[in-house]
Amino acid sequence: MKKTKGIILAGGAGTRMYPMTSLYSKQLIAVYDKPMIYYPLSTLILAGIKEVLIISNDETIPHYQKLFKNGSHLGMKIEYAVQKAPKGIAEAFIIGEKFIGKDNAFLILGDNIFYGYLNFLRDAVNNNKTATVFGYYVKDPERYGVVEFDKSGKAISIEEKPKKPKSNYAVPGIYIFDNSCVQRAKKLKPSARGEVEITDLIKTYLEEENLNVVKIGRGIAWLDSGTPDSLLDASSFIASIEQRQGLKIGCIEEAAYAMKFIKKAGLNKIIEEMPNSYYRVYLEGIYNIV
Ligand code: DAU
Repeated sequence: MKKTKGIILAGGAGTRMYPMTSLYSKQLIAVYDKPMIYYPLSTLILAGIKEVLIISNDETIPHYQKLFKNGSHLGMKIEYAVQKAPKGIAEAFIIGEKFIGKDNAFLILGDNIFYGYLNFLRDAVNNNKTATVFGYYVKDPERYGVVEFDKSGKAISIEEKPKKPKSNYAVPGIYIFDNSCVQRAKKLKPSARGEVEITDLIKTYLEEENLNVVKIGRGIAWLDSGTPDSLLDASSFIASIEQRQGLKIGCIEEAAYAMKFIKKAGLNKIIEEMPNSYYRVYLEGIYNIV
């Protein structure tokens, strides 16, 4: 089976979130008790992805490097690349060409937060033949890429932010592609808003009948964090669950340990190097019970 490498696209203009984003990209803003990017990184870890490329603007990359280093403490390999200007989500595959090499790619947008039983992602990675994207029922599909299904459940169209959506199924920011995504992305023409659109890339697979769209069930929460209000909602959601259970969401060290990327001694080393904090106390608890 081919290896799948992860990419987190974590740049963008961030203008909607000004002044929070005047120093660095929005994926470093806290969602409750940790930086936003911890959530997509933990999603990749739980999907079994060990090699990850983080793409952002040149002001923010040094911050990510300080946070995650080369990833070896997590049993991972984390690399970094600069996107000079936000020219579109599909550009991630062009920037990531060398990193992807001959492997498959799993792209996650740095502001996408998932919560729930995420085994469906591991299955999707293992079962992916050419392209796998997801459909998630929402009340405001016009804000997203929208996928339409026929009566048999087969995806028949996909549109970016349509004024009149053909279904309520939004396409979340997680995309699993075979190696041809790099060459496909290079051939895309920028859209009217000057971006190489992820939806156009997905369409190339759909037109060849090589697209698998998996509906995500109601047991999974997909949260938005692109506006001050949705950021607050996401923080409140995470806080409610974490306070009720005493378990964290998006804790990358715990996820790496649970996925056996690191052993108990590795987790201990991470804890010992961590400043005294609620986060450290939490990880000590994990270390002591598991
Ligand atoms: O969240 C899912 C949606 O993400 C999909 O349903 C849409 O099909 C897809 O186009 C995208 O829509 P958004 O309106 O959320 O895209 P946005 O431009 O806000 O970018 C999403 C994230 O990716 C954001 O955190 C910034 C980052 N980004 C975006 C672009 C265009 C980059 O780092 N570089 C870029 O060039």
